Amino acid sequence: MNIHIRNEEPKDYARVEDITRKAFWNLYIPGCNEHYLVHIMRSHPDFIPELDFVIEADGEIVGNIMYTRARLVDEAGEEKQILTFGPVCILPEYQRKGLGKQLMEYSFEKAAALGYDVIVIFGNPGNYVGRGFKSCRKFNVCLEGGAFPSAMMVKELKPDALDGRRWFYHQSLVMDIDEAEAERFDEGFESLEKKVLPCQEEFYIHSHSVIFGDMISQSAEPSK
Ligand SMILES: CC(C)(COP(=O)(O)OP(=O)(O)OC[C@H]1O[C@@H](n2cnc3c(N)ncnc32)[C@H](O)[C@@H]1OP(=O)(O)O)[C@@H](O)C(=O)NCCC(=O)NCCS
Repeated sequence: MNIHIRNEEPKDYARVEDITRKAFWNLYIPGCNEHYLVHIMRSHPDFIPELDFVIEADGEIVGNIMYTRARLVDEAGEEKQILTFGPVCILPEYQRKGLGKQLMEYSFEKAAALGYDVIVIFGNPGNYVGRGFKSCRKFNVCLEGGAFPSAMMVKELKPDALDGRRWFYHQSLVMDIDEAEAERFDEGFESLEKKVLPCQEEFYIHSHSVIFGDMISQSAEPSK
């Protein structure tokens, strides 16, 4: 396979939305919303066009990754601008061949070159621990209220970019999608059957779990 990674262009939009839908369909819920998220993300102020990539195999787009700005806020109210990514996908017939790894690692290099030093993501840990992501608990990065979700992971693009102080993570508001609008958007695509599958239960478990620990007042931080 001849593999090429480049920035997404307007002529790619329909293809990227289509492969996103195919990659996520019935994976986390019956159906999916990620293609709608891709659609609205590109025009959102938090979207970073320089970090919007497609991966081609033999000249055809088979995957993509998109980044948005996110924030960490410490207990004194100081803010740090960071990144999150997603949706990221590889077309099902091209998965598990190393393309996702190549695409992510390429994007990390470009993100670091732009001066970003931290990425926070939510996802299935199996997809990210091999890419250097670690539990948010190890970096003292939590949600408002103090929870450390099992599915929330952090990667430092520069060593020790985070100094151990407590940070509260705020993702872009673009992630709060309107489900009814997403449903309407999906009507413009070919009909696919929505199914209830065991992988959706796995996602439910991952996305509703938290790392056990004394969340607000712990003094000893776990080592990274
Ligand atoms: C997640 C995704 C982008 C990964 O891309 P990919 O091309 O399939 O992954 P790769 O072939 O590059 O493999 C990446 C790593 O995952 C590992 N892996 C392969 N199959 C796996 C599986 N079923 N579960 C967990 N890890 C697996 C590989 O061994 C590899 O590990 P390594 O880094 O130690 O070599 C892709 O599978 C995908 O689009 N999935 C559907 C959409 C999705 O879930 N996106 C992420 C949202 S959380």
